[in-house]
Amino acid sequence: MGLFVTFEGGDGAGKTTQVRLLAEWLRERGHGVVETREPGGTELGRHIRCLLLHGGEVSPRAEALLYAADRAHDVATVIRPALDRGDVVVADRYVDSSVAYQGAARSLGKDEVRELSMWATESLIPDLTVFLDLPTGDIAGRLGGTADRIEAAGPEFHEAVRREYRAFAEAEPERWLVVDARKGIDEIAGIVRERVAARLLGG
Ligand code: TYD
Repeated sequence: MGLFVTFEGGDGAGKTTQVRLLAEWLRERGHGVVETREPGGTELGRHIRCLLLHGGEVSPRAEALLYAADRAHDVATVIRPALDRGDVVVADRYVDSSVAYQGAARSLGKDEVRELSMWATESLIPDLTVFLDLPTGDIAGRLGGTADRIEAAGPEFHEAVRREYRAFAEAEPERWLVVDARKGIDEIAGIVRERVAARLLGG
């Protein structure tokens, strides 16, 4: 069984860069590595991503189901096969995004949204989740171009998302690593590597 690492955080926190840096570092050390992202890690997922972010109105329950459908397919066709081969999977967002965004910030009920994702993934939980924590006031300055449907939600929505992530990390410190996203890219990458290296050694 491989190692499953996920990155979480608000929009513009730098997850995508850190996923890439971690994957490169692991490959240099001879690990098989699979990178994925949600929504959109698979062909089906790319269609779902388009519907979710640029497809017009999506009601809250439909939104939760579409994210769960994307995740179910990503787990079945990308993540589980990679873990079964013994690879390290590095994912840009996973279940905790749904619980924070749909469950808490969209007020759908965290337990229900988590159960939906548990069903979708047959209860696959990450070994390590990195939360890149960015104060809500810094988000706007980090986002380039036109905001997608979720990014365009107001500051209260993003503040609620951040509050949820912090609470998850506090409740499950052995799974979560919280890093201040205002630190430099290399410094963040170093902190993440240290924790991943410890996990790979069985820590
Ligand atoms: P992402 O591509 O990670 O955007 P960014 O790089 O800007 O963080 O995710 C797209 C959006 O989808 C993002 O605003 C968060 C949202 N999202 C949810 O609301 N629920 C989910 O389960 C996931 C995976 C993402």
